[in-house]
Amino acid sequence: MQDFVFHNSTKLIFGKNKEELVGQESVVYGKKLLLHYGGGSIKASGLYTKVVHSLHEHGIEIFELGGVQPNPRVSLVREGVALCKENDIDFILAVGGGSVIDSAKAIAAGAKYDGDVWDFFDGKAEITDCLPIGVVLTIPAAGSESSNGTVITNEDGWYKRSCGHTIMRPKFAIMNPVLTYTLPPYQTACGITDMMAHILERYFTNEKNVELTDRLCEATLKTIINNAPTVLADPTNYEARAEIMWSGTLAHNDLLGTGRIGDWGSHDIEHEISGIYDLAHGAGLAIVFPAWMKYVYKHDVNRFVQFANRVWDVEIDLNNLEKTVLGGIKKTEQFFSSIGMPVRLEEVNIDDEYFEEMAKKGTERGPLGNFVKLYEEDLVEIFKLAR
Ligand code: NZQ
Ligand code: ZN
Repeated sequence: MQDFVFHNSTKLIFGKNKEELVGQESVVYGKKLLLHYGGGSIKASGLYTKVVHSLHEHGIEIFELGGVQPNPRVSLVREGVALCKENDIDFILAVGGGSVIDSAKAIAAGAKYDGDVWDFFDGKAEITDCLPIGVVLTIPAAGSESSNGTVITNEDGWYKRSCGHTIMRPKFAIMNPVLTYTLPPYQTACGITDMMAHILERYFTNEKNVELTDRLCEATLKTIINNAPTVLADPTNYEARAEIMWSGTLAHNDLLGTGRIGDWGSHDIEHEISGIYDLAHGAGLAIVFPAWMKYVYKHDVNRFVQFANRVWDVEIDLNNLEKTVLGGIKKTEQFFSSIGMPVRLEEVNIDDEYFEEMAKKGTERGPLGNFVKLYEEDLVEIFKLAR
């Protein structure tokens, strides 16, 4: 096990009606607040009205910026930065999913920086300060509610890039599973896939002695796999929604990565796809992850055997370990299909036109992944396996 520091400072407030506490939690950070949200789901559900009411009850002045799109754009982030600077904003409240939270994080960092916010994403500047942010989460998926990172798309060249710093972790995240009842099945499934991918990225490591973190990963994966069919069949099942919501946060709050170096190649590959094609991140991962597994499993057959056996209950065939491995990959793929995710590029009408370009853009700052280092030509092969 490698040395590690685990410090996740986000206060998680979990349960029914907890959004009513948003005013009380926000006022700690000041009286001028930027309310940031997406394309309208929070207005349709009535959450917007509840949040505004609670903020007003605590004497908070609200500035608003809605309109965050999935795969959030840097142009809106720049608008938010200007708004914060002009109005001396104290605090940013993100009400929504990963896209809204990521956009809020980027605004928070940009508001404390004199240059252009994209500098953080293309490596020209380091984040040293940022406004505090808080979250009311409406979709369990990206884990951004307690992660240290943000992922933003630049329309100029369709680059989707990430950056991070521990000071960007939200101060608090309010998580009421009831708020996720309105999620359409496709978005629910995208979220389930994304959280599983966050665990898999950490699971496939070259570190040998990490039994506890392996088992924590496996338990969380199994919990997601067990509860996914229930939330899809019965969207207002509180207990199943709660298990999925809590899993999404644990999948990406760094606990499941302790003592090891994760891979993250599949995420970087997926960002190339959703950067160009504007595909939902979870759907892209359902396509990329099985292809990545097929491409790299020979690097550590035993780890893939463990995965197949402990997560998917595939019997270990000692005379044919490869069969066990392929059984686990097949089960992964079948599970994604069973929840309505695409598992091939052709299912989302993506052909080979941009394979080379995506492979080149994806590796222009060096090879991807840690479990196995992937170069430009490897990415092309993975795209071919995903066709
Ligand atoms: O925009 P609105 O109207 O709110 O609708 C959203 C959006 O269309 C809708 N939605 C959210 N909550 C809802 C709801 N609809 C009905 N009822 C609700 N309760 O769902 C759609 C998707 O929302 P989005 O925020 O895009 O989803 P998600 O949370 O999956 O976030 C995806 C983004 O997060 C990034 C991804 O790359 C992608 O851009 N990621 C961020 C990470 C991080 N910061 O740590 C890590 C992840 O790996 C990921 O890369
Ligand atoms: Zn993700």
